[in-house]
Amino acid sequence: MNYIKEVSIIKGKVKLINYLPDIGINKVREEIFTGLKAFPKHISPKFFYDESGSELFEAITKLDEYYLTRTEKKILLTIAKDLNLDFSELNIIELGSGDSSKIRLLLRQIPENKLSTIKYYPVDISQSTIERAAYKLTDEFPMLKIEGIVADFIYQLNLIPKTEKSLFCFFGSTLGNLNMAEIEQFMKLLGKRMQEGDSFLLGLDMIKDTSVLEKAYNDARQITADFNKNILNVINNLVNTNFEPTDFEHLAFYNEGEKRIEMHLKARKDMVITFNSGADKIHIKKGETIHTENSHKFNKDNIKTMGFWAGLDTEKIFTDNKQWFSLVHYKKNR
Ligand code: SAH
Ligand code: AVI
Repeated sequence: MNYIKEVSIIKGKVKLINYLPDIGINKVREEIFTGLKAFPKHISPKFFYDESGSELFEAITKLDEYYLTRTEKKILLTIAKDLNLDFSELNIIELGSGDSSKIRLLLRQIPENKLSTIKYYPVDISQSTIERAAYKLTDEFPMLKIEGIVADFIYQLNLIPKTEKSLFCFFGSTLGNLNMAEIEQFMKLLGKRMQEGDSFLLGLDMIKDTSVLEKAYNDARQITADFNKNILNVINNLVNTNFEPTDFEHLAFYNEGEKRIEMHLKARKDMVITFNSGADKIHIKKGETIHTENSHKFNKDNIKTMGFWAGLDTEKIFTDNKQWFSLVHYKKNR
């Protein structure tokens, strides 16, 4: 997460721009300390994704318990023809693009003569993830033009280039990691950003049996626990705190009222965390928790409401036979 150094790289057909320095490390510091001083304490889930965090997330996507990725990928495998899109000269903007393995499945269904007219914009907070994914993508699609954008999709949606004829993609149910106010604000901003005829493909994890949901976030190999604890390493590196991740226990459970999985870190002992070079301290009591993630689960009413917020029509909802995951094709018709 590079909030300091401006980068602009061009390598072959890949260009990359980092907008995070526009936010600045001071604002990030303030955001983190405000969350750690609050009661209950919280850290934004966007801080999961340093290089190790992104690798741990990729390991999670391969777990038996984590049905989300394989279910969404299966839907994506054959989706292109049913989207009824003209792919020539299309700008594909993918938010929270991660390893770009999902867009790859869609690109494979597009004829080569059209692929060479497409421009792909992966947008992610993790620069190393975009770099790795973009260079790998050019191996399979050497004709594809790629412009990587390192940005925070909560604060910096306005910096995403205003392109003609666009398909926006937001896979993985990452939208569910935002709180409800942020989701509403995000949908409104995105709706304004889109132009008549543009499409938005949104992946959403649906409400289902609590035991299935809770297993997906409490895997037997404890990779999710490592992913959760790694957020403290990210914070230590970003703002010089002295968290010891092993002093915390991973907690993940379904909050029925809020329709979301919550992840927390529970302190195994009393501790004092220092920051600002030791000038400030945070006291954490044994048993106290730090809330690190919400992962909202959705239903058909939510899909309609979110479309309404954005001023978009629901063109089609693609799903699997258990209806565990939905890929919603929204369209801006006016
Ligand atoms: N779309 C991929 C990756 C999902 S993981 C998939 O479905 O498998 C979530 C991704 O969103 C990570 O790559 C993370 O770095 C990115 N991300 C999280 N919060 C973000 C934010 N506020 N702004 C931009 N990217 C963010
Ligand atoms: C990226 N996001 C949608 C994942 C999720 O399921 O909420 C992150 C994750 N957290 C724990 N496991 C995976």
